[in-house]
Amino acid sequence: MNKKQILLEQIAVDIIKNNICPDLAQEAKNLVMGDGNIDAEIILIGEAPGKKEDETGLPFVGAAGKFLNEMLAGADINRSDVFITNIVKYRPPNNRDPLPEEKAAFWPYLVRQLDVIQPQIVVTLGRHSMEYFLPNQKISLIHGQPKRIKFGDSKLVVVPLYHPAAALYNGGMRATLIDDFKKLPKIIEIIKNNK
Ligand code: URA
Repeated sequence: MNKKQILLEQIAVDIIKNNICPDLAQEAKNLVMGDGNIDAEIILIGEAPGKKEDETGLPFVGAAGKFLNEMLAGADINRSDVFITNIVKYRPPNNRDPLPEEKAAFWPYLVRQLDVIQPQIVVTLGRHSMEYFLPNQKISLIHGQPKRIKFGDSKLVVVPLYHPAAALYNGGMRATLIDDFKKLPKIIEIIKNNK
C-alpha cells in the first residue's frame, strides 16, 4: 500500500473506532468509503449509499450509478480516472434523506479524504453535498456553473450538479443534468491551463 492508500484506510478505521452514526452503522452491511483513482483531479460526491451500494460496499453501483456511468461516458470521462464518494458513508434506512446531524458527523471524514486525494475539482451531486461547499445556494440557480472556493489552505473548483437519482425519472432535470455533465471536460481543461 502506498502512503495515500494507508491514509485513506485510516479514515475508515477512525469512522468505526469513533462510532460515527451508530444507528446507521447497526443497520448497514457495509461502510461505503468511495472508489476510484486516489490521484484523481476530479472527485464526485453524492449523498449516501443506497441498497446496492450497501450490499457491495461501492458507491453508485445501482440505478443512479448506471445513469452516472452513462453521463461520464457521454462527457468522455473514464469512471476509473475519477474518485467517487458520498457525504454520508452508511445507508440511511429505506433510502431516506440523510439527517443534518448525519451529514455533519461525516463531514470531517470527507474533508480528510479530500486532504489525501487533493483533487482540483469537486463535483457535488445533489444538494446534500453541495450545501457543505456552497452554503446558502439554490441548486436550481447554480447547477453546472463552476465556483472557485477557498478550502482550508487550498483552493477548489466546485461544480454543483443535480443528483442522478433525482434526475433519472424527471425529463427536464434529466436533460439538464446530461447537458451539465457535457460541460465538465471544458471546465477541466480551463482549470488545468490556469493552474
Ligand atoms: N446515491 C448516492 O447519493 N450515492 C450512491 O452511492 C448511490 C446513490
